[in-house]
Amino acid sequence: MEEKIRALKEQLEADAAGVRSKEELSAFWQKYLGKNGSVAGLMKGLRDVPKEERPAAGKTINECKAWAEARYQQLNAEIERIELEARNRAEAVDITLPGTRREMGNLHPITLVKNRIVDAFAGMGFDVYEGPEIEDDDHNFTRLNVPKNHPARDMQDTFYVAEDIVLRTQTSGGQIRVMDRQKPPIKVLVPGRVFRSDSDATHSPMFHQMEGLVVDRHITLCDLQGMLDQFVQALFGAGVKTRLRPSYFPFTEPSVEVDVSCFECGGKGCPLCKHTGWIEVLGAGIVHHSVLENCGIDPNVYSGLAFGIGIERIAMLKYGINNIGLLFENDLRFLKQFKD
Ligand code: PHE
Repeated sequence: MEEKIRALKEQLEADAAGVRSKEELSAFWQKYLGKNGSVAGLMKGLRDVPKEERPAAGKTINECKAWAEARYQQLNAEIERIELEARNRAEAVDITLPGTRREMGNLHPITLVKNRIVDAFAGMGFDVYEGPEIEDDDHNFTRLNVPKNHPARDMQDTFYVAEDIVLRTQTSGGQIRVMDRQKPPIKVLVPGRVFRSDSDATHSPMFHQMEGLVVDRHITLCDLQGMLDQFVQALFGAGVKTRLRPSYFPFTEPSVEVDVSCFECGGKGCPLCKHTGWIEVLGAGIVHHSVLENCGIDPNVYSGLAFGIGIERIAMLKYGINNIGLLFENDLRFLKQFKD
């Protein structure tokens, strides 16, 4: 028995030296301490030991078992230490490395300008309403005082979706939709995409407009110019002012073209204002009495003002962009420049 135990201890030490991982350790346990392991084998061998020697032999086997278990615990601790060190090494963070920066996105220049315009008018008490991009002829033209076959239809090259259904050519249809739902006082902005069959360096078949509508008692051109003055100052700086020139829109009478004094040269004349000191920024006017009537509002009691701002035009002026196409190509090198 002594001999067997010594051989077992020798073999166990030899195997212990080779244990490097949890898996190997588990195999080691099976081999020596498992139910059918070597130590259990020694116990079974007791049967063959003469009766009087059994107590002593049993004691030796138990000592051997305790020793093997202690050896196993020792190996276990050792392997846990090795694995922890390996994990620490793998997960080590070099705090002297430069950090990985998270890139900040920014808003599209059209969105930036749209937000600026909304902010400027929200401060004057305007709400925002959005109408549909696919519009019926009635809202886009007829009730805006442009009946079928009226020559003013040629002012805008229209995309027809079906007979009497168009991709809206202007946000002015929003005026009708708002006045249908709400009675004066009305103060509303209508932003949105509009579509016209037109394309060159300053025109795109899809672009954005911001319609403004105010209806109340005693609304005049003075109210219009006062509001627009505030608006251009919020966008282009405190020093700028507006100028109204006579124009024509079928749904306003009188109609005006609104210029802003050149924010680049202060009005002295420069390439941006083509040496005139003024830059055209939007169309506007006093809402035509027929349009009010078309929406069930009595033009003898109420009057209104309306304006239509081209958002791309303002963005191009504000940021010095010379080709409208840049706004729609989604070239990140271009878009990243606009942080407001
Ligand atoms: N809807 C006009 C256009 O697209 C602009 C406009 C709006 C003019 C409101 C006057 C009043 O050209």
